[in-house]
Amino acid sequence: MRTDTVILGIESSCDDTSASVLINGVNASNVMAGQDVHKQFGGVVPELASRAHQQNIIPVVHQALKEAGVDMSDVDAIGYTQGPGLMGSLLVGSSFAKGLALATGKPLIPVNHMKGHILAHFVKANESDESQPNFPFLCLTVSGGHTQIVKVESHLDMQVIGETLDDAAGEAFDKCAKLMNLPYPGGPLIDKYASTGNPDAFDFPTPKIEGLNFSFSGLKTSVLYFLQKEMKANPKFIDENLNDLSASIQAAIIRQLMGKLKRAVKETGIKEVALAGGVSANSGLRKALSDQQASGWVTHIPEFQFCTDNAAMIAITAHFQYLDGTYGSLDDTPNARMKIE
Ligand code: KG4
Ligand code: ZN
Repeated sequence: MRTDTVILGIESSCDDTSASVLINGVNASNVMAGQDVHKQFGGVVPELASRAHQQNIIPVVHQALKEAGVDMSDVDAIGYTQGPGLMGSLLVGSSFAKGLALATGKPLIPVNHMKGHILAHFVKANESDESQPNFPFLCLTVSGGHTQIVKVESHLDMQVIGETLDDAAGEAFDKCAKLMNLPYPGGPLIDKYASTGNPDAFDFPTPKIEGLNFSFSGLKTSVLYFLQKEMKANPKFIDENLNDLSASIQAAIIRQLMGKLKRAVKETGIKEVALAGGVSANSGLRKALSDQQASGWVTHIPEFQFCTDNAAMIAITAHFQYLDGTYGSLDDTPNARMKIE
């Protein structure tokens, strides 16, 4: 008798269509189709994202099953992103998942995308992979739409203990990059230019926000005013200082993130700390977290393929929900503003 747990995960919350198969939590495939169509607009255009998801979803799911060497009859449950995300994008993934569940009789498992980013740490590279965090741990989840510190008690039980009051950290990277005329998404480009820049060249402020919450909208404004002033005096200022500007902006974002994370560690007494979300691909942030090992922190930094949106993180969350017996139904609807609760 077959005892493996085989989960198909589908992610379509923003601009990447992805499907993954996990066998007993081990990554058997994690297929991704990006969407170049947004580049010319300097940001994700929701309607174009939905249309691209519609084109991509069947080939991406087909490829994920093929690479894993399974077919739908082997799959125990179908996990899909219920939210948060862009409504049109979520609708494509959830409708497809429902159709597939209806046609195959497989259980449906709706997944919270933000929980998925965190639980990506539990996707195993192989059967003997034991690098997963121990409970309880803190997770700094930093993406294009969210910035949260989450206290993770178990695979299914987690609470947000701090979050941004305005822009997300990824949004701050992208908006500052746009001010420097860099294409979308600017985060990875700031990371690249920052690597040869001086983080102390320009002093961008860190806001004083109460508790464990964050605020990033002031940074964008101070960068805007600073650049306007400098460009008046020297129209080539951005081009001539791109590396130093990138390094200084990145340093300001990391200063705030790490400041609050240190405070969360102090307040909770939990020294096991993980990073998650697209911005966890940032080399400065990865280094800043690793440096805390000297202070006794046990740190977990995701592999690059699990930082930005991917379906393996949705499949692993569905895997734990499946083992717990928490299934969804055809009546579930996407939730663009879904919260961790
Ligand atoms: O988690 P994600 O793929 O999508 C959302 O759910 O938002 O995160 C995307 C965000 C974008 O803002 C992008 O600029 C940022 O992650 N990002 C980075 C880096 N790679 C991706 N930001 C800074 N440095 C990077 N290396
Ligand atoms: Zn995400």
